[in-house]
Amino acid sequence: MNPEPSPSSNNSGAQPPAELPRRYAGVLENYRPLLDIPAYTQTITLLEGNTPLIPLPRLGRELGGCELYVKFEGLNPTGSFKDRGMTVAIGEAAGAGARAVICASTGNTAASAAAYAARAGLRSIVLIPQGKVAAGKLAGAMAYGAQIVQVLGSFDDALNLVVEITRKHPIALVNSLNPYRLEGQKTAAFELCDVLGSAPDLLCLPVGNAGNISAYWMGFTQYHRLKQTGLPQILGVQAAGSAPLVLGHPVDHPETIATAIRIGRPARGEQALLAAEQSGGQIIAVSDDEILDMQRRLAGEGVWVEPASTAGLAGLAAQLRRGERSVSGKRVVAVCTGHGLKDPEIVAQRAAPLVAIPVEMGALEAVILPK
Ligand code: F0G
Repeated sequence: MNPEPSPSSNNSGAQPPAELPRRYAGVLENYRPLLDIPAYTQTITLLEGNTPLIPLPRLGRELGGCELYVKFEGLNPTGSFKDRGMTVAIGEAAGAGARAVICASTGNTAASAAAYAARAGLRSIVLIPQGKVAAGKLAGAMAYGAQIVQVLGSFDDALNLVVEITRKHPIALVNSLNPYRLEGQKTAAFELCDVLGSAPDLLCLPVGNAGNISAYWMGFTQYHRLKQTGLPQILGVQAAGSAPLVLGHPVDHPETIATAIRIGRPARGEQALLAAEQSGGQIIAVSDDEILDMQRRLAGEGVWVEPASTAGLAGLAAQLRRGERSVSGKRVVAVCTGHGLKDPEIVAQRAAPLVAIPVEMGALEAVILPK
């Protein structure tokens, strides 16, 4: 049997020395008093949040001379920003006694729901549009043990089914229609203000089902009321083939290579439009080519994100090109919502063919040295 370490013994005891900083414990523990959640909400965490805010001075100079940062949400535990909301939604569901959770998803919500449900010991069921979910997301949902149901329709069709079934059966809905998802996601706005000392001048981000833009605005306005941190303008960006909020009407057959935001009837569309308007910003659309171009430019800075994640910055680049906006000297944050590893095929399809050589020095020199 191991002897109990005595409190007076040296550093080998179980307690860390008092002078160590408090360890980061996830968004719920970090911001709990600021979240509008039931007291019974359990802490089901993978230490999500606290993501890096990466300065990109070179790209900032190219983009109108702004002070540019990327909030790299792809570095959350399951590779997307969804984890911020999922820790709270699953914690609430578990606290309320749910045994199973369900969501419709273009992929990232599915992987996140599956991971947090696994952590909480709950069953997870995810509905995805058949053939339109990137490989890394599908693999995640499988790895974390979700029951995956492909729907022969769009994300919007899947969401309708999920909403209906949760009205009939005791299964907790964890799409961003669930208010606790937004409570968790708004912590990204808190983090930005905490790190920068105030809100940025401009926040650019992609818009799909429109939960995230709504959550950021909730977070910024709440922090401003509490701490006078200022309010950013918000530029929300949809893909041109899936741009209901720009067109002003639903899109029945949304299309875009940015499958994460391939959504024609955003559940929180009204709230998103209001957020953009109240912030003095807008919601605009960019083409798939503009999205892919920005993916290359970001990767050229060492930040590889999935296609949808580039929409915010692609939108800013398009506005600058058209002379619609000036950001010289302004502090701009682009939210990059998902990691590039989520969708490896997009890059592989467009890369130069791979070269193979025999195990010979001459062959290596021939392919890597200037001719
Ligand atoms: N970026 C990524 C990488 C996403 O996965 C999503 C949404 C968005 C942006 C848009 O966020 O919906 O709050 O406006 N993905 C959802 C999903 C729809 O099922 O994973 P939103």
